[in-house]
Amino acid sequence: MLDILKKMFGSKHERDIRQLLPVVEEINSHFESYKALSDDEIKGKTVEFKERIKHETEDANRRLTEARERLKTDIPFEQRESTYDEIDEIEKELTEIIKETLDELLPEAFAVVKETCRRLVGQMWEVAGNKVVWDMVPFDVQLIGGMVLHQGKISEMATGEGKTLVATLPMYLNALAGRGVHLVTVNDYLALRDSQWMGKIFEFLGLTVGCILQTMDPPQRRIQYAADITYGTNNEFGFDYLRDNMVGTPDDMVQRGHYYAIVDEVDSVLIDEARTPLIISGPVEVDDQKFGEMKPRVERLVNAQRSLVAKVVADAEAFLQDEKKVDEAGVLLLRAYRGAPKNKRLTKLFADGAPKKLMQDTESIYLAEQSKRMHEIDDELFFAVDEKNHSIDLTEKGRELLAGNSDADFFVLPDIGTEVSLIEGNASMSPEEKQIKKDEVNKLYAERSDRIHTVLQLLKAYSLYEKDDEYVVTEDGKVMIVDEFTGRLLHGRRYSDGLHQAIEAKEGVTVERDTQTLATVTLQNYFRLYKKLAGMTGTAETEAAEFFEIYKLDVVCIPTNKKAIREDFEDVVYKTKREKYNAVITEIEELREKRQPVLVGTTSVEVSETISRMLKRKGIPHNVLNAKQHQREAEIVQNAGLPGGVTIATNMAGRGTDIKLGPGVREVGGLRIIGTERHEARRIDRQLRGRSGRQGDPGSSKFFLSLEDDLLRLFGSERIAGIMERMGLKEGEVIQHSMITKSIERAQKKVEENNFGIRKRLLEYDNVMNQQREVIYAKRRHALLGEHLKDDIFSMLGDFIEELVEQHYEGGDLERLKEDLRVNLLVDLQMTPEQFQSLGKGGVAAEAVKVATEFYRRKEEKIGTEIMGSLERMAMLQVIDVRWKEHLREMDDLKEGIHLRAYGQKDPILEYKGEAFNMFIEMIGMINREALNLVFKLFPETREQMPLPRTRRPLHREQLTMTHDASAGLGFQGNREPVEGNEAARSAQPPATKVQQLHAGTKVGRNDPCPCGSGKKYKNCHGR
Ligand SMILES: Nc1ncnc2c1ncn2[C@@H]1O[C@H](COP(=O)(O)OP(=O)(O)OP(=O)(O)O)[C@@H](O)[C@H]1O
Ligand SMILES: [Mg+2]
Repeated sequence: MLDILKKMFGSKHERDIRQLLPVVEEINSHFESYKALSDDEIKGKTVEFKERIKHETEDANRRLTEARERLKTDIPFEQRESTYDEIDEIEKELTEIIKETLDELLPEAFAVVKETCRRLVGQMWEVAGNKVVWDMVPFDVQLIGGMVLHQGKISEMATGEGKTLVATLPMYLNALAGRGVHLVTVNDYLALRDSQWMGKIFEFLGLTVGCILQTMDPPQRRIQYAADITYGTNNEFGFDYLRDNMVGTPDDMVQRGHYYAIVDEVDSVLIDEARTPLIISGPVEVDDQKFGEMKPRVERLVNAQRSLVAKVVADAEAFLQDEKKVDEAGVLLLRAYRGAPKNKRLTKLFADGAPKKLMQDTESIYLAEQSKRMHEIDDELFFAVDEKNHSIDLTEKGRELLAGNSDADFFVLPDIGTEVSLIEGNASMSPEEKQIKKDEVNKLYAERSDRIHTVLQLLKAYSLYEKDDEYVVTEDGKVMIVDEFTGRLLHGRRYSDGLHQAIEAKEGVTVERDTQTLATVTLQNYFRLYKKLAGMTGTAETEAAEFFEIYKLDVVCIPTNKKAIREDFEDVVYKTKREKYNAVITEIEELREKRQPVLVGTTSVEVSETISRMLKRKGIPHNVLNAKQHQREAEIVQNAGLPGGVTIATNMAGRGTDIKLGPGVREVGGLRIIGTERHEARRIDRQLRGRSGRQGDPGSSKFFLSLEDDLLRLFGSERIAGIMERMGLKEGEVIQHSMITKSIERAQKKVEENNFGIRKRLLEYDNVMNQQREVIYAKRRHALLGEHLKDDIFSMLGDFIEELVEQHYEGGDLERLKEDLRVNLLVDLQMTPEQFQSLGKGGVAAEAVKVATEFYRRKEEKIGTEIMGSLERMAMLQVIDVRWKEHLREMDDLKEGIHLRAYGQKDPILEYKGEAFNMFIEMIGMINREALNLVFKLFPETREQMPLPRTRRPLHREQLTMTHDASAGLGFQGNREPVEGNEAARSAQPPATKVQQLHAGTKVGRNDPCPCGSGKKYKNCHGR
């Protein structure tokens, strides 16, 4: 069965590649013929290619210009509508023509790049501070890799196969279209290195190259983006997109569209990094000290739990001695585990497979039927920790201890539903009194839920986050996240949802201010903006399903240029970490004797330091590569191939850096990789292995594991413990068996699937927001650029008036209608009650629109078209920014609260979608009304009298925080997003649902995507 599968896989990739082989020949024959050309003739090719594209697109471009010109004239509404459609059509057509032309040009363009490389051989230039001599001419497999990238797919090419060079081929080709090509790297160093290393090719061919670095200001960035080709990290690209949608004038925008992106290390970017969104936030007005206030109470709780668990573990140990008390022992073990999963004594006890298995068996009994009986375990505790789901639940006992002398209900949420119906049912209260009472209940609810949230985040900080593992505290008292994948400190990033403040409170350092989201996007949705997306990495295949499902990206595995000869040994497994580390040190000593260099990969800074200490004791010189030295990291890794070198690096630090073997190293077996733990994802392990055996070099890799490793502890260790027992493994002994390696891979697969689930859910939530963001950003861009703006204003006016008429017509309330028109628009509607009756709803609205339009024209004449235009721009920008910011906050609240609904067996995502849609429609209504208000009512005489859009203020970079949360722990971040049935769902009651008014006929912008998330235009969906 497996074999058949393998063959199928094999043959799919083979088929993909075989189709490309004739093109390789074509490229190579052009390449042969180009050898005879002069340098200038080769350079001339770029001009020639561009001319060809220009020629092919001439007709469509002409029609596009015509259509745009038409919009500038005063044509009737229907005609404008159809012109917008026409423009959309022509743009689609253009994309198609460009695609076809580039496909035709591919063989020649690739050959031009290859020939350029050949001409550069032997030349030397500076790359990220080092002198480098060019020695690369693309191999045939690299040409194939380049074609796959051009097709908008993922090229899986083994580590060290030269993907940096591969990318230049499709970049050159696609840059010919003049719309900008982006190459996305995982860090600034690689962006700089690659732009300088490869830049010469493009410059030789007359294209410009830019590179975005974190330190650059907007004007510098704009220059980089204007280049034909731009290198930069995913964070920089994403944040620039968000910032571009916060600026006050078009001149402040830096990007010029999203045409084609190639993502290097695509699995790292689109999978690992994509677990959390990019967020730009600014400080909120009020500071709060709630974490500090709650800390003493929580510490009391944590200490009480600690003593309790110590006793439970001791009791469990006693029961374990007694055959008849096995069940009791199981219950106690489970209780201890739920009380303090990281308890040292418990971990030690679990190192022996049997107690661990007993606990897990007991756990599965109590987990049955949605954990119906779990409370029997938890009730004795002060709080219960669910390590796998990363969530914490307060118990009754815990609540009481927390409350102490204060009100016993201090940490109990009021039951809103009951309270409200009690108030409603109270006949002695007037409606106003009822409203006041209801507001009080809501306020109480909000206070308590805030307090509980604070406590839960603090508990998490104490029970699930360990210093020097998940985070470090710097000398100046800052809590910094350690990137789980690279081990680097993540500057400026903070855990979301109050967790960071909770950790700061726990560590006794200054609790930084809470901030409010000003803009946010997930990487998934950022990269979906590109017309064409491609990626490359050494490790995509294990995640091929996800790439396809989320990004519609196909993975094509490309064979290596030379046969890979690295030897990957089976894993060796020890009982305890201590034995494992000892074995690692022994291995290093042996390798050193042979002068074979070794790169030791670890999963945390702590492990790196442990190994380093042990090596120091033995007097073995070595380099440690972790957070503290991250600037030098690439250089250290680069030198890891020198004879007898020992380098320790957190698992993926140095992804993408090249390790060259020193003299004599080949003969002793090349670079040896030692893994000190398996990572939760197989890709990460493969990346580590891939530092060795590059370009057909010799090399080897081996992983050292122990039953105490997190991965084995949490997943699949039963099985492995079973195997080890059957083999009769004793303390100090090691086993090495393919069965173990397979079990571990199965465990990794389980975690990978779990994480895929989390990412998919995050995306489902963000997709709702994404549609809304597109609508708002489009509206904002219209305002900013002044395009479409008048159309927007008039369609807003139509909607607003329709809505007013709708409100007043049935009641026959002509006076109210007149009043509203006057108050909101300064428009005086002359109409008799008879006319009101006879005209009908539509007629009245039409008349009102006519009068309003006349007023508008008069005003425009009076203050001048130019000032009117500025006024409109200012009004729209200001209103949009204020309302959108508010909306983001409400959406945050909604997301936080929505999982409480899981109670009523409702699907939270459906609830979220429905409510988010209503909130959005309401916001659009408000934007329209307020913007119209300003446009009609403000009478500035000069531009200077115009109030400035309020957006300018938070745009000072120093005030903004860019965050892209690192994933933490072993990747179980179940409660980052609303999850069914987590702590809050059990300890809280659903909040009162806000009743949202749906304004019939409030329009979003007919050509914008519908905010309901259907992907259709608004006019073809909810706007029909
Ligand atoms: N056509 C070529 N001819 C000679 N050397 C090459 C060629 N292509 C790549 N190399 C060499 O291969 C090494 C690895 O290149 P590069 O760092 O681009 O690989 P990579 O595929 O990006 O690896 P990783 O997955 O680790 O990022 C470099 O030293 C480079 O000089
Ligand atoms: Mg690379």
